[in-house]
Amino acid sequence: MEKGYKASITGVGSFLPEKVLTNDDLSKTLDTTDEWITKRTGIKERRIVENGVAASDLAVEASLRALDDANVLPTEVDLIITSTITPDCLFPSTSCYIQEKIGARNAGSFDLLAACAGFVYALSVAKSFVASGAMKTVLVVGAECMSKITDYTDRSTCILFGDGAGAVVVQQGNGGREIVSTHLGSDGSQAEILRLPAGGSKLPASHETVESGLHYIKLRGKEVFRQAIINLVDVVTKAAADNNMQVEEFDMVIPHQSNIRIIEAAMERLGLPMEKAYVNIDRYGNTSSASIPIAIDEIEKGQLLNSGDTVILVAFGGGLTWGSSVIEW
Ligand code: UT7
Repeated sequence: MEKGYKASITGVGSFLPEKVLTNDDLSKTLDTTDEWITKRTGIKERRIVENGVAASDLAVEASLRALDDANVLPTEVDLIITSTITPDCLFPSTSCYIQEKIGARNAGSFDLLAACAGFVYALSVAKSFVASGAMKTVLVVGAECMSKITDYTDRSTCILFGDGAGAVVVQQGNGGREIVSTHLGSDGSQAEILRLPAGGSKLPASHETVESGLHYIKLRGKEVFRQAIINLVDVVTKAAADNNMQVEEFDMVIPHQSNIRIIEAAMERLGLPMEKAYVNIDRYGNTSSASIPIAIDEIEKGQLLNSGDTVILVAFGGGLTWGSSVIEW
């Protein structure tokens, strides 16, 4: 267990673009049906940004809401950490654009990449900075424009993803929801099963990469599905053991929203009823690292938890990466 100052979530906010893309919309241009998508994924619709909107635009709205919720001024932020796999550009970081747009002129800024597990990774980094005393106020953002890296002619991937952003303010002290622990894991030997092949130093963007569609997400669905369940269950079990808890003691599980069947299978293997899992995948699809902070915001606004409840955030994604975080509400 980490020693040092307590780190707590003192504010939360989210932002979703207005435009809705339903399963029926997709079935007009693809060989798919609302029935197939709903049954295999739990997704009914997702939000999509308009042309010209970038991850930082969604992030700014979510961040300002989180800062307002925490009663913190942008100038009081010491550090901005943004988790995204759809940054505005490769560099500078999306965090720098957010920093400028919200006027956080006293903040350091960097991005973190751990795909769909990225928000839990970023929260873990924020907790460490705050627990060590190095920082007092950290803004943690998960922001994605997944529609920009999705091939809408590929029915096995484009049905899954949506756009959105969520943010939390992490501060020293116990005036909020305390981040009790974080657990992280990865397995780079399986990097190929979920990735975006082109646009980096290994395969720079070229006419050929664009013509071959290598600037879009490539996913080996069944393999990712299997690995997700194994690692989600493992990292929840580990978190419970390290906190001297039984998994049944978690009042709520807030999972990354990737596929309802992944969530159901993981809950079943953990011996937990589905009523304990927070699910909004039907409305937003998989928003990668934005899914958990969006869920936290909805839970907070809906007053779905009581002070003193113990909650676990858990996520899995490309890398492979996974992680969990226990929060005392
Ligand atoms: O956050 C981590 C990110 N990644 C994920 O979470 C993805 C994890 N994987 C999944 O969610 C699932 O594997 C998918 C939803 C992507 C696919 O579901 P599945 O049950 O694994 O289906 P499948 O890939 O085995 O495909 C079964 C059939 C295939 O047809 P045949 O070969 O049996 O004739 C596919 O071509 O379903 C077909 N299919 C579709 N049919 C209608 C694939 N996509 C569609 C579609 N509509 N959209």
